[in-house]
Amino acid sequence: MDTVAAVDPERLQQEALAAVAAASTLAELDEARVQYLGRRSALKLALRDVRDRETGMTLNAVREAVEAAFAAREEDLRRAELEERLATERVDVTLPAGLVGQRKLRPRGTLHPSTLVRREVEDIFLGLGYEIVDGREVETTRYNFDALGFPEWHPARSPRDTLYLGDETVLRTETSPAQIHKMESQRPPIYMVSIGRVYRRDDITATRYPIFHQFEGLAIDDGITMADLKGTLLYVMRELYGPEREVRFRTHYFPFTEPSMEPDVSCFNCGGAGCAICKHSGWIEMGGSGIVDPYLYEFVGWGLEEYSGFAFGMGVERTAQLRYGIGDIRAFWENDLRFLRQFR
Ligand code: DAH
Repeated sequence: MDTVAAVDPERLQQEALAAVAAASTLAELDEARVQYLGRRSALKLALRDVRDRETGMTLNAVREAVEAAFAAREEDLRRAELEERLATERVDVTLPAGLVGQRKLRPRGTLHPSTLVRREVEDIFLGLGYEIVDGREVETTRYNFDALGFPEWHPARSPRDTLYLGDETVLRTETSPAQIHKMESQRPPIYMVSIGRVYRRDDITATRYPIFHQFEGLAIDDGITMADLKGTLLYVMRELYGPEREVRFRTHYFPFTEPSMEPDVSCFNCGGAGCAICKHSGWIEMGGSGIVDPYLYEFVGWGLEEYSGFAFGMGVERTAQLRYGIGDIRAFWENDLRFLRQFR
């Protein structure tokens, strides 16, 4: 009986409502709930001891008011906490990818000039209906030399010129072995380009580097002639260096073409009058080419007279040097950002 008497319902309600209002987090609100509505709270103990109807009704009214206050406050706090989270955890999906987190601008890279030329060459040949095929940077001497008709005494076979990984394993010295792999995998018509790294044991100078890239072309079909080779190279050179370009052939020797030619393109800088870029000749050397030597058909097990074709190989860095006016080949490998950023 004295417990009931000790409880002042009005004060109890005021205290409870004040605690509800003071709770600024859901956790604090829970604590207050235990204190004012829990099983051992003054209100619950008083309710348990109620003896008369009037006290019971008063205490029940207090309980309802306090419970309602808790419910309303809980609703408010939940909404506030949700809004807070939505505000702080917001991800702006419209920001560019470089702008995340603290809105720090991540620097955007640029494509390397070798990559730019590689893509351009690929696009040109894809436009001609050629297929782009991968090669192998590690080759056997069989593919790098034997299959391509290099005689035993050829200086390119020397470990002083070529990087050997084993007695019969080399870092390929040219992309031409890709021709053999393609011919072994498929009968003509073949129209392919293969682009990639090649390795030679050279000292590093302004004009030579032991690693560089080549693009290699091979076309084998019925009745292909030198005119097809010249027309194709003329088209490609005009795409790369401008519609006014001309192409000329100088005879040369390669072990895997017969006849062999070195193609020159008329100088894009002086138009043929003579300047520093073409060494005052009006022409710029572009690489090697020729009619596929029937020895290769024999090597892959085809009949000698069945097909005819042409092949060519050129330097990617050299093309980029001419396209972008890059004097020193070492710039391609030094990763100097001041150089690379120019190709934005
Ligand atoms: N592989 C030669 C070199 O690296 C270039 C070359 C010449 C490629 C004639 C060819 C070709 O496909 O037919 O010097």
